[in-house]
Amino acid sequence: MPTSLLERRFATIGRHSPLFYDEPLHLVSGSGVWLTDAGGRRYLDAYNNVPHVGHAHPRIVAAMTAQAATLNIHTRYLSEPVVDYAEALLSRFDEGLDRVFFANSGSEANELALRIAMQHTSSRGMLVTDFSYHGNTSLLAQVTTGLRTAEGPAPFVRAFTVPDLDDVEHDGADPGTVRDAALAEVARAIDELQSEGHGVAAVLLESIFSTEGLPRVPEGFVEGVARLVRAAGGLIVADEVQAGLGRTGSTFWGFQRHGLVPDLVTMGKPLGNGHPLAAVVTTDELAEEFGSRNEYFNTFAGNPVSSVVGHEVLRVIDDEDLVGVSARLGRLIRAELDVLVDSYDELGPVKGDGLFFGFQMFSDAARRRPDAARTKRVVEGVKSRGVLLSRIGPTGSVLKIRPPLALREADLPTLLEAIRDAVSAEMNADPA
Ligand SMILES: Cc1ncc(COP(=O)(O)O)c(C=O)c1O
Repeated sequence: MPTSLLERRFATIGRHSPLFYDEPLHLVSGSGVWLTDAGGRRYLDAYNNVPHVGHAHPRIVAAMTAQAATLNIHTRYLSEPVVDYAEALLSRFDEGLDRVFFANSGSEANELALRIAMQHTSSRGMLVTDFSYHGNTSLLAQVTTGLRTAEGPAPFVRAFTVPDLDDVEHDGADPGTVRDAALAEVARAIDELQSEGHGVAAVLLESIFSTEGLPRVPEGFVEGVARLVRAAGGLIVADEVQAGLGRTGSTFWGFQRHGLVPDLVTMGKPLGNGHPLAAVVTTDELAEEFGSRNEYFNTFAGNPVSSVVGHEVLRVIDDEDLVGVSARLGRLIRAELDVLVDSYDELGPVKGDGLFFGFQMFSDAARRRPDAARTKRVVEGVKSRGVLLSRIGPTGSVLKIRPPLALREADLPTLLEAIRDAVSAEMNADPA
């Protein structure tokens, strides 16, 4: 008989469901940006974007429980909270993006967006970046490049590189030249899709490129990709599962940082602050076309409880000025991290935007050899100092710092001290 919680998990959920950390964390409660484990130890959460407005936010809990105590039902009846939320969500978008399909997860939202794009264009060709993740459905497994899938990228998928100025600028490369070379690769990928008869249905991209490791893309790169895809008849799908709802500080949606209006926007994780809520926002034209050809129905998506939760998340973001918090605290943390990375030749520049950043760790002073093992040790070291974060990027060597927007200025010393101490312990450790 398995006895520990870990053994019971292995005996039921299996050993392949990912768990963070060498010693998995057993969490029992959360409040704001603080989490408590089974032994009563508190951790500052500098990793999770699902509890966007804070763990167990009292207003979200109150909205959810009040609606659950009143009515929760599938989506084939009229319900005022559902339409109220649809209106509130759509009011956050540029003109023309005025229809919403609700979904239950980011995967479901992306799957639907690609289905709409394929039907609209009568094409299957898909463009994604060369280290990305957009979900776990059968179709999305075939466009996944940043995680192991048995399917692997399908023949109708082309992956392109996202240029990172942090990688090339110290070699004296000109950003415009870097951008144009990267766009030429996208153009070649489009040519291949067309010459192989797949056509171009869409590009699916995340405006902050989080799985890719927060590359510092040259000005005009994202716009350039969008131009090429549209010229080939394809649609732009902006995956806002990570970058959305003010995460990047300067704008409410990540894609707005690039002056882009996508054809389809997909949302998930933070939209319901932990409640399973996701969405696809698109144009009336695309929604009409898809709706008239498909009897699309989704039992749970956008039910009254989910809707009041999503609506309250939007209100809390406004009332607590969380986009402003993201920008202001993001700047403060970044300034401190800039000082830290300047102290060690083996640390790359601070990357990211708003309350989403990190820096790459190398094993050499010339910063040629990304060091995943070192980054992992720092993640563990930060945890042992009571702060949770993670790592990302193709080599797993970019520290990932992405706290809930409920972070307060008073939390910054805890966050920064843990990172500084863990980095300095790593840098001063005797090589074994
Ligand atoms: C950018 C991005 N898109 C989509 C997804 C899939 O979302 P979900 O796990 O809710 O299906 C993820 C999940 O990590 C993600 O990071």
